[in-house]
Amino acid sequence: MKFTLECSLIFSKPLKDVDIDSLLQGSSDVLQRGAPKGQGARIQKLQLKDDRLELTITSGRYVRPHDALFRLKNLLASELGKKYHIGIRDTEAKSYLIEFELECEPKKDLEIIYAKKIDFKGKNCILLLEDLDEGFLKKNCVDRMISLIKEKIQKQYYEGKEEYWELIWSSIEKKHVWSKNPTEVMEERGWIMHRGRGQWIFGPIATRIIKTMEQIVVDELLKPLSVDEVIIPKAVTWDVWKKSGHAKNLYGEIYYLCPPKSRDPKQWEDVVDIYKITGEVPTKLIKEKIKDPIGGMSYAQCPPFWPYVAGKTLSDEAMPLKVFDRSGTSMRYESGGIHGIERVDEFHRIEFVWIGYPDQVKKLHKEIIKHYKHIFNEILDLEWRMAFVTPWFMAQEGLLDLADEKKEIGTIDFEAYLPYRGTRKDSEWLEFQNASNNGDKYPKGFNVKAKGSNELYSGCTGIGLERWLSVFIAQKGIDPENWPKEFRERIGTVPNEIRFL
Ligand code: SER
Ligand code: ZN
Repeated sequence: MKFTLECSLIFSKPLKDVDIDSLLQGSSDVLQRGAPKGQGARIQKLQLKDDRLELTITSGRYVRPHDALFRLKNLLASELGKKYHIGIRDTEAKSYLIEFELECEPKKDLEIIYAKKIDFKGKNCILLLEDLDEGFLKKNCVDRMISLIKEKIQKQYYEGKEEYWELIWSSIEKKHVWSKNPTEVMEERGWIMHRGRGQWIFGPIATRIIKTMEQIVVDELLKPLSVDEVIIPKAVTWDVWKKSGHAKNLYGEIYYLCPPKSRDPKQWEDVVDIYKITGEVPTKLIKEKIKDPIGGMSYAQCPPFWPYVAGKTLSDEAMPLKVFDRSGTSMRYESGGIHGIERVDEFHRIEFVWIGYPDQVKKLHKEIIKHYKHIFNEILDLEWRMAFVTPWFMAQEGLLDLADEKKEIGTIDFEAYLPYRGTRKDSEWLEFQNASNNGDKYPKGFNVKAKGSNELYSGCTGIGLERWLSVFIAQKGIDPENWPKEFRERIGTVPNEIRFL
């Protein structure tokens, strides 16, 4: 690693009659602090020009030149203030040249913002940055750029690789009543209706099925495990996604939230007038009158729960903490044209979150799976399977990781066979829910603690109701006569179909 920084300290007035050399006498000690002997940063060049001190600072692995610059600034500031009543107004850097070793050669060139130039020679990377301000230097953005370059190269190696997937359990093959596409059939019969982008209206029959399923989840999973209901916000602000890791990746899938710049009707009069006169909503003009996005609509459901416990210490009696939310929809901007109800932009999900000591989280994860087995085998009578996959939060952060060898921390996907998609072997099964032990990711990210220094884990399971409906109709059809007895008893009399003339 080799760093060369050309930078300046800018004073509140020109340094006349100031003996800069004597002020900097202690500098070599200061630039050496914390590094093995002789391996700290060094001042290679130094020139005083009116109100600025121009410096060239170099270093190897220890004491980055930008840290060195701030150490010098502190050293000088106190002396200059005391003796000459001069302050240091700013710091800036004309250029920053960084050479570092990579673990593996890049497969192709890559781009990174803020770089004036980036070159690779085998496993060596040469990065040139220019015109950097104090904030950039101070926030250690340079080191983050180095990590990001390494991350981008690593990504080149696993591009195109599939996410981790390992079958862990499978039900027996079952006989299904048909092989029709549930979305098409339900649409034809008016059970559901498509509304714009990946959004559906669920009529009385589809809603009754979904609500019955929700009740099954309450009766067979949440009540037996004493899970309390909470209401989690559905508008999620950046602070949450910074801590959950979603801010690292999601931008192409977010439905953004932009509040108005003003709620004063006067400010909106032109918009109103244009609409009243032309019948068109002037969206471009609206764009000028709204603020930058403050976040987006709920994406993964559980992250906006975490501020509730963030920075707190949980008592032993409170653990494992078990809560669930079903208070509204989550939204994801999906790609491509219209999909069926298996891939929607606005979806309904129940999510159960638990927090506790590692053993408690592990134990609950196992119990939850037992309850699900009972629901899918005995009540819904589905053909389904479970697979151990890349943890959902890693996938959502755009990371691919090897799975935990012990198969404790990570996500279990529940997948069902959809006969309309083809053979069991060749068709894509539908992931209709998941259950994860998320390890210490969330307690760490949101700084949640237990007594002493005991480690906390958390888990969550998301139940996708549109997907449950899709799986059920795909395997069982629309005639209640063919539905499993346990389910028929719970749903009671199905509402009449609504006929349109
Ligand atoms: N939060 C998890 C996910 O987004 C479970 O719902 O998949
Ligand atoms: Zn979750």
